[in-house]
Order: sequence, then structure tokens, then C-alpha cells
Amino acid sequence: MVLKKKKHCYIRTFGCQMNVHDSEQMVELLEKGGYETTSDMARADLIIVNTCSVREKAEQKIHSFLGRLRRDKEKNPDLIIGIAGCVAQQWGRNFLDKVHHLDFVLGTHNIHRLPEIVKDVESSRSRIAETTFRKSVQSLGILTIPKNGKVNAFVTIMQGCNNFCAYCIVPYLRGREESRKSSEILDEIRFLAAHGVKEVTLLGQNVNSYGNTLKNEADFSTLLAMINGVEGIERIRFTTSHPKDLSDELIESFVTLDKLCEHIHLPIQSGSDSVLKRMRRGYTSQDYLARVEKLRARCPDISITTDIIVGFPGESDEDFQKTIDLMRKVRFDNLFSFKYSDRPGIASESYNDKVEEKVKSERLSFLQNLQETHTLEKNRGLEGKEEEVLIEGASKGSEEEMTGRTRTNRIVNLPGENGLTGKTVPVKIVRAYMHSLRGELLPGREV
Ligand code: 5AD
Ligand code: SF4
Repeated sequence: MVLKKKKHCYIRTFGCQMNVHDSEQMVELLEKGGYETTSDMARADLIIVNTCSVREKAEQKIHSFLGRLRRDKEKNPDLIIGIAGCVAQQWGRNFLDKVHHLDFVLGTHNIHRLPEIVKDVESSRSRIAETTFRKSVQSLGILTIPKNGKVNAFVTIMQGCNNFCAYCIVPYLRGREESRKSSEILDEIRFLAAHGVKEVTLLGQNVNSYGNTLKNEADFSTLLAMINGVEGIERIRFTTSHPKDLSDELIESFVTLDKLCEHIHLPIQSGSDSVLKRMRRGYTSQDYLARVEKLRARCPDISITTDIIVGFPGESDEDFQKTIDLMRKVRFDNLFSFKYSDRPGIASESYNDKVEEKVKSERLSFLQNLQETHTLEKNRGLEGKEEEVLIEGASKGSEEEMTGRTRTNRIVNLPGENGLTGKTVPVKIVRAYMHSLRGELLPGREV
């Protein structure tokens, strides 16, 4: 008897959590179709590059990665190479003309078609591009079984975006906003809980507007309340929120729902009202500050993180100073900051007064230095305090070290054994760093 050789797939993911989850779904589909995943690209029979297009730099990285794969294809002509995600959606069929060693292009609404496409490529060696936008995105419902005892999982609750912020390419690449039915979301979360998941992160471009596209459906706070009732789930997180849609009901959910973790990622983008207006964000810095004040009044320990773009077209020194002033007022727990980057087709591509690269770099590094002082100050404030930590597994660096997260989404490393994985334990914070905390288990007091 000749044993059939197992085929291996390798997926390289660029970009956001949405993409990470899309890759998980692709793995699930490929494993069902007989592939085994490998972390060693050299062993792969199928390589998929899952891409992000939100900034030009992200896209450049993908082109250079794809370029390197040309040699692999020359050495092994049977190797199948596919591209998925936002850059695939953006370029579509043109990708096949441009990159000759590419076998298929899979758009953001077509993940569910991956097995068929791979089969077609295998059998006929045809080259395929599938980037149709679909009214109902079937991949939203692909259930992924958590791998390697993972205790946290992503759940997509909506896809696409209707906001068309001036700098953002997402609505063009992920399509119009579409919410999933709450019953489907709950089924998926029950399935995950049955497979040992303790923490779910709900994903969407703008989760606060969940339900808007569905008739008679729950809104976001009602959905959260339903998920709070799912047995086995201990923690709920969500991302991303839009400040203009952050309702009082959602703020109250942090008070009333015991499983909802005290962390909100609330991208402000700029502290200057004139920049916010040109970004088409739909709120002012005062509106934002009022939301922060209310969040902190109702939930004093909440961690607030944000995204900021520096050097948006027309951003003056005064505008930038307003962003800095706002950071000093809010004192974010952490933030992601980016230099503005032109993207094809976005509104701000045609704006005048583009900011010089040098000025953008200076502003970015000033802002990041300031944030480092705020992050460290916040983290140091936790030294000596007790935190509830959900243990996610062994630390990367050491076998005797475990790693987990506080409810406010801070990483904690602590001495401990593997048996702690999946347990929520009380931990005393002994040392604070910029990117993590060091803790000690408080024995005999499992939460
Ligand atoms: N240039 C720079 N940053 C951008 N972002 C989105 N589009 C751009 C762009 N064109 C940032 C925003 C967003 C985050 C995901 O990426 O801050 O919140
Ligand atoms: Fe982009 Fe704005 Fe939609 Fe976020 S809300 S995805 S920034 S268009």
C-alpha cells in the first residue's frame, strides 16, 4: 500500500486582528480539505499570504515578501502560492498579470471558496482570481476550533464599514457594513466555550453600530448582555469602537456585565477639531473628552487605548499640539500611532497640503516618547496591586514561566506551571515594564 503524503500549508498573516481571524478560518478550511499547517515555510506545498493595505508600508512589505517567493516557485513548480486579504481585494486579477508566480487571488468576501479554488488550481493548474463582493458574506459563519489549548478566540460580529473616513481604505476593500445575526454569534460562542475557550474578542470595524443593518436585531449592548449569559465564557472583549457611536448603554454595560473586561479601544485619530472634520470623523475633541469622562465616571479602572494618525494633510504644528494636549488630558493607557499614508481612492488622497515625511517622523517620535511616559506611569501604578489574570499558557522565553492578561488587557508574566492554563487567578503585580507586568501568584485563591 502506498501511503498518501500529507500536504502542508503555510499562511503568513499581515495586519489586524480581523486578518488573524481570517487566517484561522483559512486554516480550518484547509485542514478539513486534508492539508496540515506548518510553521516551516520550506515544507509547504501551499503558501498563502494574507495581506493588509491600510498603510502603504504594510503593502510594501507584502510585495517584498511575494518577491522572495519567486525563487521557491522556480525550485518547486508544484508549489501553490495564493494571496488573500485587503491587497488581494485591491489588486484583483491584475495581481496575476503582475506576479507570474502567483496561482490565485482571494478577495475579502470569498474565504469560504478557498477549498474549491485550491482544488481547481491543483487539478488544472489554472490561475484564479475571486474578488466578488457578496451581499451576505458566508465566511462570517466558518467555525474555527481553537488550536493548541487556546483559551481566547476571535468572533466576527460584523464585517465592512459605512463610515468612509477620509484616510481609510477599509470600506473599499471590506465592503459595506453587515452584521451577523445574534443567534449565529451566540451559537459560535457556545461552540467555542464547549471547546475550552474562556475569553472571546468580538471583532468588527465599528462594533458600536452592530445591528444597524439587521431588522429587529439586538443592538451592541443587548448582544453583549446575551453573550454575558453564555456558560463557560468568563471574559468578553471587543474591538474596534467608533467614538461617535459610543452609547450610554454601552458605557453602562461595563458596570452591569461582570464578564465584560474593563478595556476599550477608542481611536481618536487627532486632537484637532479641524483635522477631525477633514478626516470626516463625525465628532469633536470635546465630544471625545466627554465620552472619556463618562467612561471613567462609571468605570474608574477602565483602560482606554487609542489610534492616532500624525501628519494628516494640512495638519499644522498647532493641530499637532492639540493632539499632544489631548493626550496629556486623557493619559491613554496605550496607543497605536501612524504616519499618514496616501492610499489609492481614499478622499484625502486628493487633499492639498501634504505634510513632509520628515515632519511626520518628528511628530511621530515626539508623540511616541510622550506615550511611553504615560504607559509606564499607568503600569507602575499597578505595582503592589492585586489583579485578576487569565493564564493563556507558557511564556515564549521560559518553561517555568506562564503568561496571561489582566482584565484591562495588560500582559502579565509570572512563575507557574502549565496546569494553570485557562484558569483565572489572583496575581500580585511586583514589577511594571513598558510592555508587560511581572506578577506573583497569590496561592489558594483561584477566582
Ligand atoms: N494612514 C495612516 N494611518 C492609517 N490608519 C488607517 N488609514 C490610515 C492611513 N491612510 C490607521 C488609523 C486606524 C488604524 C487601524 O490605522 O489610525 O485606526
Ligand atoms: Fe476606516 Fe473609519 Fe471605518 Fe474605521 S470607521 S474602518 S477608520 S472608515
